[in-house]
Amino acid sequence: MIDYSAIPSPCYVLEESRLRHNLEILNRIQKESNSKVICALKGFSMWRTLPLVGEYLSGATASSLNETLLASQKMGKEIHICAPAYRKDEIETLLSHATHITFNSFSQWLAYKNITLKKKVSAGIRINPEYSSIDTDLYNPASRYSRLGVTRKEFKLELLDGIEGLHFHALCEQNADALGAVLATIEKNFGEFIPKMKWINFGGGHHITRADYDVELLIKIINQFHKKYPGVEVILEPGEAVGWQTGELVSSVLDIVHNEIDIAILDISVAAHMPDCLEMPYRPMVMGSGMLGVKQHSYRLAGNSCLAGDIAGDYSFDKALEAGSKIIFMDMIHYTMVKTTFFNGVKHPAIGLWKDGKFHLVREFGYEAFRDKLS
Ligand SMILES: Cc1ncc(COP(=O)(O)O)c(C=O)c1O
Repeated sequence: MIDYSAIPSPCYVLEESRLRHNLEILNRIQKESNSKVICALKGFSMWRTLPLVGEYLSGATASSLNETLLASQKMGKEIHICAPAYRKDEIETLLSHATHITFNSFSQWLAYKNITLKKKVSAGIRINPEYSSIDTDLYNPASRYSRLGVTRKEFKLELLDGIEGLHFHALCEQNADALGAVLATIEKNFGEFIPKMKWINFGGGHHITRADYDVELLIKIINQFHKKYPGVEVILEPGEAVGWQTGELVSSVLDIVHNEIDIAILDISVAAHMPDCLEMPYRPMVMGSGMLGVKQHSYRLAGNSCLAGDIAGDYSFDKALEAGSKIIFMDMIHYTMVKTTFFNGVKHPAIGLWKDGKFHLVREFGYEAFRDKLS
Protein backbone atom coordinates (compact mmCIF):
# COMPACT_ATOMS: atom_id res chain seq x y z
CA MET A 1 0.00 0.00 0.00
CA ILE A 2 1.48 3.31 -1.10
CA ASP A 3 2.18 5.93 1.56
CA TYR A 4 1.06 8.96 -0.43
CA SER A 5 2.66 11.37 2.05
CA ALA A 6 6.03 10.09 0.78
CA ILE A 7 5.25 10.93 -2.86
CA PRO A 8 6.34 14.31 -4.29
CA SER A 9 3.76 16.31 -6.22
CA PRO A 10 3.06 16.01 -9.05
CA CYS A 11 4.01 12.40 -9.71
CA TYR A 12 2.73 9.28 -11.44
CA VAL A 13 3.45 6.45 -9.06
CA LEU A 14 3.19 2.79 -10.03
CA GLU A 15 2.95 0.13 -7.33
CA GLU A 16 5.04 -2.82 -8.45
CA SER A 17 3.00 -5.44 -6.60
CA ARG A 18 -0.14 -4.34 -8.46
CA LEU A 19 1.67 -4.65 -11.80
CA ARG A 20 2.86 -8.13 -10.81
CA HIS A 21 -0.71 -9.05 -9.92
CA ASN A 22 -1.88 -8.08 -13.44
CA LEU A 23 1.02 -9.91 -15.05
CA GLU A 24 0.17 -13.07 -13.10
CA ILE A 25 -3.38 -13.00 -14.46
CA LEU A 26 -2.10 -12.47 -18.01
CA ASN A 27 0.43 -15.25 -17.59
CA ARG A 28 -2.29 -17.61 -16.36
CA ILE A 29 -4.11 -17.01 -19.63
CA GLN A 30 -0.97 -17.81 -21.61
CA LYS A 31 -0.52 -21.05 -19.72
CA GLU A 32 -4.11 -22.26 -19.58
CA SER A 33 -4.94 -21.42 -23.19
CA ASN A 34 -1.55 -22.12 -24.73
CA SER A 35 -1.52 -18.63 -26.20
CA LYS A 36 0.89 -15.70 -26.19
CA VAL A 37 0.20 -12.41 -24.45
CA ILE A 38 2.35 -9.46 -25.47
CA CYS A 39 2.33 -5.95 -24.04
CA ALA A 40 1.03 -3.16 -26.30
CA LEU A 41 3.55 -0.42 -25.65
CA LYS A 42 1.15 2.25 -26.92
CA GLY A 43 -0.83 1.67 -23.73
CA PHE A 44 1.89 0.82 -21.27
CA SER A 45 5.52 1.70 -21.76
CA MET A 46 6.94 2.65 -18.38
CA TRP A 47 10.19 1.11 -19.49
CA ARG A 48 11.75 0.71 -16.05
CA THR A 49 9.22 -2.02 -15.52
CA LEU A 50 9.59 -3.71 -18.92
CA PRO A 51 12.14 -6.27 -17.64
CA LEU A 52 9.52 -7.27 -15.07
CA VAL A 53 6.81 -7.40 -17.76
CA GLY A 54 9.16 -9.62 -19.77
CA GLU A 55 9.41 -12.08 -16.87
CA TYR A 56 5.75 -12.93 -17.46
CA LEU A 57 4.70 -11.95 -20.99
CA SER A 58 5.96 -13.27 -24.32
CA GLY A 59 7.07 -9.92 -25.68
CA ALA A 60 5.79 -6.57 -26.79
CA THR A 61 3.91 -5.03 -29.66
CA ALA A 62 5.16 -1.77 -31.09
CA SER A 63 3.38 0.73 -33.30
CA SER A 64 6.38 2.77 -34.39
CA LEU A 65 10.15 2.71 -34.73
CA ASN A 66 10.48 4.39 -31.34
CA GLU A 67 8.42 1.74 -29.59
CA THR A 68 10.27 -0.99 -31.49
CA LEU A 69 13.63 0.29 -30.27
CA LEU A 70 12.29 0.54 -26.74
CA ALA A 71 11.04 -3.06 -26.86
CA SER A 72 14.36 -4.19 -28.23
CA GLN A 73 16.45 -2.34 -25.65
CA LYS A 74 14.31 -2.83 -22.57
CA MET A 75 12.58 -6.19 -23.02
CA GLY A 76 14.15 -8.10 -25.86
CA LYS A 77 11.64 -10.92 -26.26
CA GLU A 78 9.28 -11.28 -29.25
CA ILE A 79 8.70 -7.95 -30.96
CA HIS A 80 5.55 -7.59 -33.02
CA ILE A 81 4.97 -4.47 -35.06
CA CYS A 82 1.62 -3.19 -36.19
CA ALA A 83 1.03 0.28 -37.65
CA PRO A 84 -1.30 1.76 -40.27
CA ALA A 85 1.66 2.31 -42.63
CA TYR A 86 5.45 1.99 -42.55
CA ARG A 87 7.99 4.53 -43.78
CA LYS A 88 10.47 3.50 -46.45
CA ASP A 89 13.35 5.02 -44.50
CA GLU A 90 12.48 3.00 -41.37
CA ILE A 91 11.43 -0.40 -42.67
CA GLU A 92 14.91 -1.92 -42.68
CA THR A 93 15.54 -0.97 -39.04
CA LEU A 94 12.07 -2.08 -38.02
CA LEU A 95 12.60 -5.47 -39.60
CA SER A 96 16.03 -5.83 -38.01
CA HIS A 97 14.36 -5.84 -34.59
CA ALA A 98 10.96 -7.40 -35.31
CA THR A 99 9.97 -11.04 -35.03
CA HIS A 100 6.51 -10.35 -36.50
CA ILE A 101 5.12 -7.52 -38.61
CA THR A 102 1.50 -6.84 -39.50
CA PHE A 103 0.68 -4.94 -42.67
CA ASN A 104 -2.44 -2.84 -42.77
CA SER A 105 -2.93 -3.19 -46.53
CA PHE A 106 -1.91 -5.40 -49.42
CA SER A 107 -0.16 -2.43 -51.04
CA GLN A 108 2.18 -2.10 -48.04
CA TRP A 109 2.70 -5.87 -48.04
CA LEU A 110 3.72 -5.78 -51.70
CA ALA A 111 5.97 -2.77 -51.14
CA TYR A 112 7.89 -4.50 -48.34
CA LYS A 113 7.39 -8.20 -49.11
CA ASN A 114 10.90 -8.86 -50.42
CA ILE A 115 12.72 -7.23 -47.56
CA THR A 116 10.38 -8.85 -45.00
CA LEU A 117 11.06 -12.31 -46.42
CA LYS A 118 14.79 -11.58 -46.68
CA LYS A 119 14.90 -10.56 -43.02
CA LYS A 120 12.88 -13.67 -42.10
CA VAL A 121 10.27 -11.69 -40.18
CA SER A 122 6.88 -13.37 -39.92
CA ALA A 123 4.37 -11.26 -41.86
CA GLY A 124 0.68 -10.83 -41.17
CA ILE A 125 -2.16 -8.86 -42.63
CA ARG A 126 -4.58 -6.82 -40.54
CA ILE A 127 -8.20 -7.58 -41.27
CA ASN A 128 -11.20 -5.42 -40.49
CA PRO A 129 -14.15 -7.44 -39.18
CA GLU A 130 -16.51 -4.53 -39.96
CA TYR A 131 -18.20 -5.38 -36.70
CA SER A 132 -17.54 -4.21 -33.16
CA SER A 133 -19.60 -3.37 -30.10
CA ILE A 134 -17.54 -0.29 -29.17
CA ASP A 135 -19.83 2.66 -28.40
CA THR A 136 -17.35 5.51 -28.86
CA ASP A 137 -16.48 6.15 -32.53
CA LEU A 138 -13.11 7.65 -31.60
CA TYR A 139 -12.05 4.22 -30.35
CA ASN A 140 -13.79 2.04 -32.92
CA PRO A 141 -11.39 0.65 -35.55
CA ALA A 142 -14.22 -1.25 -37.27
CA SER A 143 -16.49 1.69 -38.01
CA ARG A 144 -17.52 2.62 -41.56
CA TYR A 145 -14.65 4.02 -43.68
CA SER A 146 -12.11 2.84 -41.12
CA ARG A 147 -8.54 2.86 -42.44
CA LEU A 148 -7.56 0.13 -39.98
CA GLY A 149 -7.44 -3.29 -41.58
CA VAL A 150 -8.49 -4.88 -44.85
CA THR A 151 -12.22 -5.55 -45.27
CA ARG A 152 -13.39 -8.84 -46.73
CA LYS A 153 -14.25 -7.06 -49.98
CA GLU A 154 -10.69 -5.73 -50.33
CA PHE A 155 -9.03 -8.98 -49.22
CA LYS A 156 -6.82 -10.47 -51.92
CA LEU A 157 -6.44 -14.21 -51.73
CA GLU A 158 -3.98 -14.16 -54.63
CA LEU A 159 -1.53 -12.00 -52.63
CA LEU A 160 -1.37 -14.23 -49.55
CA ASP A 161 1.80 -16.04 -50.57
CA GLY A 162 4.31 -15.32 -47.77
CA ILE A 163 1.67 -14.14 -45.31
CA GLU A 164 1.76 -16.22 -42.11
CA GLY A 165 -0.66 -14.41 -39.86
CA LEU A 166 -3.92 -12.53 -39.49
CA HIS A 167 -4.41 -9.64 -37.10
CA PHE A 168 -7.58 -7.96 -35.92
CA HIS A 169 -8.24 -5.34 -33.27
CA ALA A 170 -11.87 -4.48 -32.63
CA LEU A 171 -12.32 -4.22 -28.86
CA CYS A 172 -11.98 -1.41 -26.35
CA GLU A 173 -12.13 -2.02 -22.60
CA GLN A 174 -14.36 -5.04 -23.22
CA ASN A 175 -15.13 -8.41 -21.71
CA ALA A 176 -14.62 -11.87 -23.20
CA ASP A 177 -18.17 -12.09 -24.56
CA ALA A 178 -17.40 -9.14 -26.87
CA LEU A 179 -14.37 -11.04 -28.16
CA GLY A 180 -16.61 -14.05 -28.81
CA ALA A 181 -18.91 -11.91 -30.97
CA VAL A 182 -16.03 -10.38 -32.99
CA LEU A 183 -14.45 -13.79 -33.44
CA ALA A 184 -17.71 -15.22 -34.79
CA THR A 185 -17.76 -12.45 -37.45
CA ILE A 186 -14.10 -13.05 -38.28
CA GLU A 187 -14.75 -16.75 -38.72
CA LYS A 188 -17.77 -16.05 -40.89
CA ASN A 189 -15.94 -13.66 -43.21
CA PHE A 190 -12.31 -14.80 -43.06
CA GLY A 191 -12.61 -18.35 -41.69
CA GLU A 192 -11.38 -20.00 -44.88
CA PHE A 193 -7.98 -18.26 -44.52
CA ILE A 194 -7.36 -19.10 -40.85
CA PRO A 195 -6.14 -22.72 -41.37
CA LYS A 196 -3.55 -21.41 -43.86
CA MET A 197 -1.96 -19.25 -41.13
CA LYS A 198 0.72 -19.85 -38.49
CA TRP A 199 -0.74 -17.27 -36.13
CA ILE A 200 -3.67 -15.02 -35.47
CA ASN A 201 -3.46 -11.91 -33.34
CA PHE A 202 -6.67 -11.06 -31.44
CA GLY A 203 -5.45 -7.46 -30.88
CA GLY A 204 -6.03 -5.48 -27.69
CA GLY A 205 -9.01 -4.06 -25.85
CA HIS A 206 -9.40 -7.16 -23.65
CA HIS A 207 -9.99 -5.73 -20.17
CA ILE A 208 -8.58 -8.90 -18.67
CA THR A 209 -7.33 -7.53 -15.35
CA ARG A 210 -10.56 -5.70 -14.49
CA ALA A 211 -12.27 -7.38 -11.50
CA ASP A 212 -15.38 -8.41 -13.45
CA TYR A 213 -13.55 -9.74 -16.52
CA ASP A 214 -14.49 -13.30 -17.35
CA VAL A 215 -11.05 -14.91 -17.53
CA GLU A 216 -12.54 -18.41 -17.65
CA LEU A 217 -14.58 -17.51 -20.73
CA LEU A 218 -11.53 -16.05 -22.48
CA ILE A 219 -9.56 -19.24 -21.81
CA LYS A 220 -12.50 -21.29 -23.08
CA ILE A 221 -12.83 -19.20 -26.26
CA ILE A 222 -9.13 -19.59 -27.07
CA ASN A 223 -9.10 -23.31 -26.33
CA GLN A 224 -12.15 -23.84 -28.54
CA PHE A 225 -10.40 -21.85 -31.27
CA HIS A 226 -7.35 -24.14 -30.98
CA LYS A 227 -9.55 -27.21 -31.36
CA LYS A 228 -11.08 -25.79 -34.53
CA TYR A 229 -7.82 -24.51 -36.00
CA PRO A 230 -5.02 -26.74 -34.68
CA GLY A 231 -1.54 -25.36 -35.19
CA VAL A 232 -2.62 -21.71 -35.44
CA GLU A 233 -0.98 -19.78 -32.63
CA VAL A 234 -3.16 -17.24 -30.79
CA ILE A 235 -1.68 -13.94 -29.68
CA LEU A 236 -3.31 -11.28 -27.49
CA GLU A 237 -1.81 -7.80 -27.26
CA PRO A 238 -3.44 -5.84 -24.44
CA GLY A 239 -1.99 -2.53 -23.28
CA GLU A 240 -4.50 -1.19 -20.81
CA ALA A 241 -4.89 -4.54 -19.04
CA VAL A 242 -1.16 -4.53 -18.23
CA GLY A 243 -1.21 -1.17 -16.45
CA TRP A 244 -4.83 -1.28 -15.26
CA GLN A 245 -5.14 0.16 -11.74
CA THR A 246 -1.43 -0.13 -11.06
CA GLY A 247 -0.98 3.41 -9.80
CA GLU A 248 -2.07 6.98 -9.37
CA LEU A 249 -1.31 10.54 -10.33
CA VAL A 250 -0.51 12.42 -7.15
CA SER A 251 -1.17 16.15 -7.41
CA SER A 252 -1.79 18.98 -4.99
CA VAL A 253 -3.86 22.11 -4.66
CA LEU A 254 -2.09 25.38 -5.49
CA ASP A 255 -5.00 27.76 -4.92
CA ILE A 256 -8.76 27.86 -4.48
CA VAL A 257 -10.75 30.47 -6.39
CA HIS A 258 -14.44 31.24 -6.18
CA ASN A 259 -16.82 31.98 -9.04
CA GLU A 260 -20.23 30.89 -7.75
CA ILE A 261 -18.55 27.55 -6.93
CA ASP A 262 -15.22 26.73 -5.28
CA ILE A 263 -12.57 25.76 -7.82
CA ALA A 264 -9.33 24.12 -6.76
CA ILE A 265 -6.43 24.84 -9.12
CA LEU A 266 -4.02 21.91 -9.08
CA ASP A 267 -0.32 21.60 -9.92
CA ILE A 268 -1.13 19.42 -12.94
CA SER A 269 -3.05 19.94 -16.17
CA VAL A 270 -5.89 17.61 -17.11
CA ALA A 271 -5.27 18.44 -20.78
CA ALA A 272 -1.54 17.72 -20.57
CA HIS A 273 -1.33 14.97 -17.97
CA MET A 274 -4.67 13.12 -18.12
CA PRO A 275 -5.69 13.83 -21.73
CA ASP A 276 -8.07 10.86 -22.01
CA CYS A 277 -10.33 12.54 -19.45
CA LEU A 278 -11.04 15.24 -22.04
CA GLU A 279 -10.71 13.04 -25.13
CA MET A 280 -12.99 10.15 -24.15
CA PRO A 281 -14.31 12.04 -22.08
CA TYR A 282 -14.58 10.61 -18.56
CA ARG A 283 -14.51 11.83 -14.97
CA PRO A 284 -11.48 10.35 -13.20
CA MET A 285 -11.88 8.85 -9.73
CA VAL A 286 -10.26 10.81 -6.94
CA MET A 287 -9.21 9.04 -3.75
CA GLY A 288 -11.46 9.84 -0.77
CA SER A 289 -13.91 11.94 -2.80
CA GLY A 290 -17.64 11.74 -3.45
CA MET A 291 -19.88 13.07 -6.18
CA LEU A 292 -20.73 16.75 -6.00
CA GLY A 293 -22.64 17.58 -2.82
CA VAL A 294 -22.37 14.11 -1.28
CA LYS A 295 -19.65 15.07 1.20
CA GLN A 296 -19.50 18.35 3.09
CA HIS A 297 -17.04 20.33 0.94
CA SER A 298 -17.53 20.55 -2.83
CA TYR A 299 -15.02 21.69 -5.43
CA ARG A 300 -14.39 21.71 -9.12
CA LEU A 301 -10.89 20.29 -9.69
CA ALA A 302 -9.07 22.14 -12.46
CA GLY A 303 -5.68 22.17 -14.15
CA ASN A 304 -3.02 24.84 -14.23
CA SER A 305 -3.15 25.72 -17.95
CA CYS A 306 -4.86 28.46 -19.97
CA LEU A 307 -7.45 26.04 -21.39
CA ALA A 308 -10.89 26.97 -20.03
CA GLY A 309 -11.89 23.31 -20.18
CA ASP A 310 -8.85 22.07 -18.29
CA ILE A 311 -11.17 20.52 -15.70
CA ALA A 312 -11.26 17.04 -14.15
CA GLY A 313 -14.80 17.38 -12.78
CA ASP A 314 -16.79 18.25 -9.66
CA TYR A 315 -16.10 16.40 -6.43
CA SER A 316 -16.81 16.59 -2.72
CA PHE A 317 -14.58 15.88 0.27
CA ASP A 318 -15.01 15.37 4.03
CA LYS A 319 -12.37 17.98 4.82
CA ALA A 320 -12.06 21.44 3.26
CA LEU A 321 -9.26 21.64 0.69
CA GLU A 322 -6.51 24.21 1.04
CA ALA A 323 -3.26 25.04 -0.72
CA GLY A 324 -1.06 21.97 -0.34
CA SER A 325 -3.89 19.42 -0.01
CA LYS A 326 -3.07 16.27 -1.96
CA ILE A 327 -5.44 15.20 -4.73
CA ILE A 328 -4.87 11.65 -5.90
CA PHE A 329 -6.26 10.64 -9.29
CA MET A 330 -6.84 6.90 -9.48
CA ASP A 331 -5.69 4.55 -12.24
CA MET A 332 -3.45 7.00 -14.08
CA ILE A 333 -0.71 4.73 -15.44
CA HIS A 334 -1.88 3.09 -18.70
CA TYR A 335 -2.18 5.43 -21.70
CA THR A 336 -1.87 8.51 -19.45
CA MET A 337 1.91 8.48 -19.15
CA VAL A 338 2.46 7.87 -22.86
CA LYS A 339 0.10 10.65 -23.94
CA THR A 340 1.34 13.57 -21.84
CA THR A 341 2.44 16.87 -23.33
CA PHE A 342 4.28 19.95 -22.19
CA PHE A 343 1.29 22.18 -23.00
CA ASN A 344 1.74 25.59 -21.36
CA GLY A 345 4.99 24.24 -19.96
CA VAL A 346 3.07 23.06 -16.90
CA LYS A 347 5.46 21.06 -14.74
CA HIS A 348 5.38 17.50 -16.01
CA PRO A 349 4.67 14.97 -13.25
CA ALA A 350 7.65 12.92 -12.15
CA ILE A 351 7.52 9.15 -12.57
CA GLY A 352 7.99 6.96 -9.53
CA LEU A 353 7.79 3.38 -8.38
CA TRP A 354 6.47 2.09 -5.07
CA LYS A 355 8.42 -1.07 -4.36
CA ASP A 356 9.35 -3.01 -1.20
CA GLY A 357 7.50 -0.48 0.97
CA LYS A 358 9.50 2.45 -0.39
CA PHE A 359 9.19 5.22 -2.96
CA HIS A 360 11.75 5.22 -5.78
CA LEU A 361 11.94 8.33 -7.92
CA VAL A 362 12.46 7.08 -11.47
CA ARG A 363 12.41 10.26 -13.51
CA GLU A 364 11.90 13.99 -13.06
CA PHE A 365 11.15 16.45 -15.84
CA GLY A 366 12.77 19.85 -15.58
CA TYR A 367 13.20 22.78 -17.92
CA GLU A 368 15.61 20.82 -20.17
CA ALA A 369 12.98 18.17 -20.97
CA PHE A 370 10.52 20.90 -21.96
CA ARG A 371 13.16 22.77 -23.99
CA ASP A 372 14.49 19.69 -25.77
CA LYS A 373 11.07 18.72 -27.07
CA LEU A 374 11.01 22.04 -28.92
CA SER A 375 13.61 23.96 -30.80
C1 LIG B 1 -3.62 -2.76 -32.96
C2 LIG B 1 -3.76 -2.57 -31.50
N1 LIG B 1 -3.34 -3.53 -30.68
C3 LIG B 1 -3.43 -3.39 -29.35
C4 LIG B 1 -3.97 -2.26 -28.77
C5 LIG B 1 -4.03 -2.16 -27.28
O1 LIG B 1 -5.34 -2.00 -26.82
P1 LIG B 1 -5.69 -1.93 -25.28
O2 LIG B 1 -4.71 -1.04 -24.64
O3 LIG B 1 -7.06 -1.37 -25.25
O4 LIG B 1 -5.63 -3.32 -24.76
C6 LIG B 1 -4.42 -1.23 -29.60
C7 LIG B 1 -5.00 -0.02 -29.03
O5 LIG B 1 -5.42 0.88 -29.68
C8 LIG B 1 -4.31 -1.38 -31.00
O6 LIG B 1 -4.71 -0.43 -31.85
